Amino acid sequence: MLNPRSVLITGANRGIGLELTRQLLRLTDPPEHVFATCRHPESATELKIIASANPSVHILKLDVTQHDHYDDVISAVQTCLNGAGLNLLINNAGIGLRESSDFLHVTAQNMRDAFETNALAPLMLSKAFFPLLKMAVGPNEAETSMSCSRAAIINISSKKGSCSTNTKLRMYRSPAQDGAVKGDFGGGRYPYRTSKATLNMVTSNMAVDLKRHGILSVALHPGWVRTTLGGPDAPIDVRHSVEGLITVMGSLNEDSTGTFHDYEGVDIEW
Ligand SMILES: NC(=O)c1ccc[n+]([C@@H]2O[C@H](COP(=O)([O-])OP(=O)(O)OC[C@H]3O[C@@H](n4cnc5c(N)ncnc54)[C@H](OP(=O)(O)O)[C@@H]3O)[C@@H](O)[C@H]2O)c1
Repeated sequence: MLNPRSVLITGANRGIGLELTRQLLRLTDPPEHVFATCRHPESATELKIIASANPSVHILKLDVTQHDHYDDVISAVQTCLNGAGLNLLINNAGIGLRESSDFLHVTAQNMRDAFETNALAPLMLSKAFFPLLKMAVGPNEAETSMSCSRAAIINISSKKGSCSTNTKLRMYRSPAQDGAVKGDFGGGRYPYRTSKATLNMVTSNMAVDLKRHGILSVALHPGWVRTTLGGPDAPIDVRHSVEGLITVMGSLNEDSTGTFHDYEGVDIEW
């Protein structure tokens, strides 16, 4: 069962990040602190409504690509935690970049933008939060009892970053077109696919490097979800996806570090 004392989520103002914030507060044993970070707190209307009803929610301004702003966020988190560590870092913020993303139209700038947000930022933010995550582990039993309630980095990745599944045709029913059967043929989406593939390697590499410190590192695919990024054709609603993600996070242990699962707990090939 998931019961971290503190969680930080990036991109918490909408989509999966907002729903994660909402559902974490509904846990049987909810966190004492949920650091809901977003680029523009002033316009994060839904998040502000949640925070006004829940003193455990702290809205912090964070553009994940602005590495020189990380220190401000860390010191705000440290002040709230008052000597305790951070249990769970969820690197959720991401960009889809569907435009100019196929082989003939992809641009170097699109590739850089996707890499900056989807791959580089989760690595640099995890590095920045390492001392607080380590503090959450405590002095003993670093490699045993690993969990998302103790000390973990969850990277919200995508099956689109899996090389193994890219070539497999997948059929689905489109909710936006009266359930019409459509096919996902793989290929294209160079910025998104390659940045998420990089994020997968970042996850796997951190799992190796952080295991001796007792910090879990796992990549999760939320399914194809109806959000701005997922679009109206996506078959899964955000509530269902996040219920699954929370159940999966609650089930992770030291044997799970360095793995890649979907929101139903099914293993995904890298
Ligand atoms: N939806 C899907 O089908 C699907 C499938 C697989 C994986 N995912 C992954 O799930 C995660 C969440 O996606 P979503 O579906 O919830 O998409 P979304 O509704 O489009 O939300 C994306 C979130 O990321 C934030 N963001 C983007 N760039 C940022 C930056 N530089 N700094 C801070 N925040 C930033 C956005 O903030 P702003 O409002 O400021 O733009 C927004 O909060 C992403 O990593 C995505 O790749 C989604």
